[in-house]
Formats: sequence, structure tokens, C-alpha cells
Amino acid sequence: MNNIILIGFMGSGKTSVGRYMEESEGFALIDTDEYIEKQQNDSINNIFANKGEEYFRNLETECIKELIALNTDMTVISVGGGLPMRGENQKLLKELGKIVYLRATVDTLVSRLMGDTTRPLLKGGDLRQKITELFEKRETTYEGIADIVIDTDNYSPKEIYNIIKERL
Ligand code: S3P
Repeated sequence: MNNIILIGFMGSGKTSVGRYMEESEGFALIDTDEYIEKQQNDSINNIFANKGEEYFRNLETECIKELIALNTDMTVISVGGGLPMRGENQKLLKELGKIVYLRATVDTLVSRLMGDTTRPLLKGGDLRQKITELFEKRETTYEGIADIVIDTDNYSPKEIYNIIKERL
């Protein structure tokens, strides 16, 4: 198996599946948010607040270009929920590996993201409404670029990995 790209909404389990694959299945793990935070020596929250979303989106594109240049192999790449929305990024992600969309229902997302303080796009206002609106804007893009789509609500990271292995 080559690189696996995990895409999906915030709270869809990309990080948990990525960690499982790193700890138990011999993959290297790269998380684009962590990559950007380390590189910028700053948090996603601060980058959004001080430089704005567009600046962060440019960092995401740069990050994916850098990952392609690294020529990684057997690497699971967990990408920020908004990264696949840019047309340019979609082409780059396809170059980087097989794209797996981890789909979760709005109910699951709401329960996982309640009380979260690390996602600038979900701050303030009604959480369910924010998630629903953003999810509706994004879901056809996630589905359109994915090589496989997995409904994750009732599965553990290990079960999700087994589905990925079977279906790729
Ligand atoms: C975002 C998702 C976050 C992070 C940033 C923006 C988004 O990553 O990149 O807060 O636009 O959906 P996760 O999907 O890993 O939470």
C-alpha cells in the first residue's frame, strides 16, 4: 500500500485513524495541521486570528506541495477538513496518494465537537447549525474526490483501517 490521504469534516476521526495506522500498522503519520503549527511555531487558532483564513489556506497548499516533494511512501496523511475545498489542492492530493473520505453524520460530529476550542471556524453561535451549513457545502467535494468513502459512525479506528485495506 502506498500513501493514504484521510479527508473529512472536523471530528470525523482522521486523527484517530491516522494514529492507529502509525502505532499498529507500520505507517508514518503526517497531520497537515500539526505540520503547519510546527512550521509556523504557532497554533491554528492564532494563525486564523492574526493572519486570517486565506493565509492559512495558502499554508495548506504549500504543505501539500512540500509533502509531494518528500516522495513519501507508506505514509498516512491526515488533512485539515477545509483543505480539499481548493481545486488546486484536489489535484495535489490525488498526486500524493489514495484518498479516503471518512464520513460521519452531523449528530456524531456535533457530539464529538461539543466543547472543542481548537477549531476557529466553529467558534461562537450555534454549533449544530454551523456544522450543518459547512458540512452541506463540503460534502459533494469530499465525495467527488475520494477513491473510497467510509461511513465511520459505528466503527473503531482498527475496523476503519481494515475497511480501507479491503477496499483499496
Ligand atoms: C478546518 C479544519 C481543521 C483545521 C482548521 C480548519 C476546516 O482541521 O485545519 O481549524 O476548515 O474544516 P481538522 O479537520 O483536523 O479539525
